[in-house]
Amino acid sequence: MAKYLQLVERIQAQIDAEVWQPGEKLPSLRDQVSLSGMSLMTVMHAYQVLESQGIIVSRPQSGYYVAPRAEYLSQPVTHQKVQLAESVDINAFIFDVLQACRDPLMIPFGSAFPDPELFPQRQLMRALNQVSHSLTPGDAINNLPPGNEALRKTLARRYAQQGITVAPDEIVITNGAMEALSLSLQAVTEPGDWVIVENPTFYGALQAIERLKLKAVAIATDPQHGMDLNELEQALQRWPVKACWLMTNQQNPVGFTLSREKKKALVELLAEHQVALIEDDVYSEIYFGADKPLPAKAFDRQGSVLHCSSFSKNLVAGFRVGWVAAGRQAQRIQRLQLMSTLATSAPMQLALANYLGTRSYDSHLRRLRQVLEQRKNLARQALKRHLPHGAKINDSRGGYFLWIELPRQVNATQLYYRALAHNISIAPGSMFSSGQQYANYFRFNTAWAWDDAMEAAAARLGGLIAEMM
Ligand SMILES: Cc1ncc(COP(=O)(O)O)c(C=O)c1O
Repeated sequence: MAKYLQLVERIQAQIDAEVWQPGEKLPSLRDQVSLSGMSLMTVMHAYQVLESQGIIVSRPQSGYYVAPRAEYLSQPVTHQKVQLAESVDINAFIFDVLQACRDPLMIPFGSAFPDPELFPQRQLMRALNQVSHSLTPGDAINNLPPGNEALRKTLARRYAQQGITVAPDEIVITNGAMEALSLSLQAVTEPGDWVIVENPTFYGALQAIERLKLKAVAIATDPQHGMDLNELEQALQRWPVKACWLMTNQQNPVGFTLSREKKKALVELLAEHQVALIEDDVYSEIYFGADKPLPAKAFDRQGSVLHCSSFSKNLVAGFRVGWVAAGRQAQRIQRLQLMSTLATSAPMQLALANYLGTRSYDSHLRRLRQVLEQRKNLARQALKRHLPHGAKINDSRGGYFLWIELPRQVNATQLYYRALAHNISIAPGSMFSSGQQYANYFRFNTAWAWDDAMEAAAARLGGLIAEMM
């Protein structure tokens, strides 16, 4: 094959593999000469061929660019695909849903994250910048588990503001709440043990249980009041349970917050049965009333509640910093972390400690809560306008999810695929349960600015549901 054709094929393959995406600049002719080892004439010839095929375009005095795509290629979905997707395992499906949310063209009703525009990017970058100037080789050692001391002290003081005594030494800094939760589960179980979860629950719990080869008892939740403690007690009597993993505030996906009395009763019941409580509290800062709801950790007298949270949902998702207030499991969790990820990135821990030292975190949180409450109201009103009669919105104060129940005959996984074909993502109920009880539910993210595109997408979603009814 002629050399220029070899280069044409190579560049075409790179474009297909999205090494170079539509609108991106290709290496200049000169750079391509040194990259390919071919002559300038050969490279020019190859670029001209690609241009004549409409694969790349030249811009005077700028260079060659990958031609923009005429239309956005989301996979059109057929009825058959839906059936196929329903039969694949839950992890593959969850992965697909999360991947779809990464597409900037997608309307992110299915996303788990709030709009990052709400985060104080400039101040965080300033903190990171300041830290990078003073970073020393010793910082890697000083920030090994349990993690940065200043950060742990700040967290301990924030617990103290709520009247909860947690020593900085009980806190382990982790790679997001997900690591805090997984290490906590690993610390209190052996493969084959029984764990109680809520139904529906955050899919991360189901994945961690599967990965650690544990067995799950899923207890149904009331949309307003959460888990029924009588049912919990019966389950504790029936199975040799080692841990209970649940959310007490702004539960994901349903949205309920347990009452203070219920949190206390829950801790007492689990302590009586010597079962560890792994408390996932990642949305605790996103409350809408006057006072921050307490975690169940506030009622822990035996050090058997492992309270896990992070900065991912309220300050910065990309730093991947979370923590666990681990009570008497703190040492064990540190050891497990040393054996798995070793530590949380030192610069990220230092930058957060620096930012939290500026005291702007609380004013940021106040603004964030205000905007999220407004956005949730707007989204709720829009859904009331657009969802057909028969769809029910579970109202919850706080957090940025709405949990929506559709009539029985509407399968939300099918709806997910149909909506995806219109660049709209939702999080179908099947992601949050290993059974089929929530096949006609979906979770709706309200944390993004409500504009015309969102309004049109909500109307389209309502139309799709109506067609399926
Ligand atoms: C309920 C819940 N717990 C934990 C996590 C994980 O948090 P992080 O990003 O801090 O690991 C998420 C993220 O979506 C979540 O929704």
